[in-house]
Amino acid sequence: MTEDEAQAKPWIGEQGAGSKPVRTRIRSRESGIRYKDEDYKMKLKDRIAIITGGGSGIGKAIALAMAKEGANIVITDLVEERLKETEKNIKVYGRDVLGLKSDVSIIADIKNMVNKAIERFGKIDILVNNAGIFTPGTFLEKDEAAFDRVVAVNQKGVFFCTQLVAREMVKRRYGKIIGICSSTARIGVTMYSDYAGTKGAMLAMTRAMAAELSPLGINVNAIACGLTPETNNFQLTDFPQESLQVIVGMTPMRRTGAVDDYTAIAVLLASDEGSFITGQTISVDGGASMP
Ligand SMILES: NC(=O)c1ccc[n+]([C@@H]2O[C@H](COP(=O)([O-])OP(=O)(O)OC[C@H]3O[C@@H](n4cnc5c(N)ncnc54)[C@H](O)[C@@H]3O)[C@@H](O)[C@H]2O)c1
Repeated sequence: MTEDEAQAKPWIGEQGAGSKPVRTRIRSRESGIRYKDEDYKMKLKDRIAIITGGGSGIGKAIALAMAKEGANIVITDLVEERLKETEKNIKVYGRDVLGLKSDVSIIADIKNMVNKAIERFGKIDILVNNAGIFTPGTFLEKDEAAFDRVVAVNQKGVFFCTQLVAREMVKRRYGKIIGICSSTARIGVTMYSDYAGTKGAMLAMTRAMAAELSPLGINVNAIACGLTPETNNFQLTDFPQESLQVIVGMTPMRRTGAVDDYTAIAVLLASDEGSFITGQTISVDGGASMP
């Protein structure tokens, strides 16, 4: 079988136990990356992925999942020890990794992140806007400093990380941008008023950015995660048990999320298989926010 035939029918050679592998090389039509038989199943081979706030929780799980699928990784975080630990974990998959202490709310840090990524890897294929914070508190109690910080990290950070990375991506007319959103953007729950506003902004920005960037070869999507108590931010806050029980009660699957619940969809949105999906915020929350 010629390479063109193999490309037209990539499933040939994969079917049936004991079928003889006939394909030796496949070239992805979208990314132009060449695959050999042994790594054809790696969905993100040789991609360069930036994951902000990738030192813990959902971002770390996504960074590891992408590394497992063949991507080289840039992770940023505020906490150096988290970066070091995650870098070590990523290297287990044999990938190259760059950890950067960097704050998504500071433009100079974002510029440095983009420059360092390009210097080291020459391109950026994937951006996961994961860094985010929340502080539980009733709407009537929230103060200005907490409000300003959550907006600076969750909204301004997403806006400018996307802008500065997308300026690199448009040069190659290729890119995948994924926001880590929250079901609080869609459902009304107590304790989250300021945070929910920033995640609602992410949902709206995902559509608006997709409208501008998709014609330039860049997909923009988001994942609306459900309540995930194993993460650092959550553990460090005093989240009221009764609110947690209310959210579980509103969730048809009657459970909270785990960080690994979000990795498969992140890999899909970052891969060529997800190339016709853009402008979407996909709920992964046990049905909590279904219409
Ligand atoms: N845990 C949940 O219940 C839940 C639910 C829905 C969505 N999310 C979203 O998931 C994303 C990841 O959070 P997580 O729950 O895994 O929490 P986490 O605290 O475990 O991870 C967030 C990481 O981001 C880093 N970070 C915080 N501020 C930063 C900044 N300004 N610049 C760079 N890095 C920064 C933190 O140091 C931390 O390592 C957030 O956007 C959060 O809003 C979380």
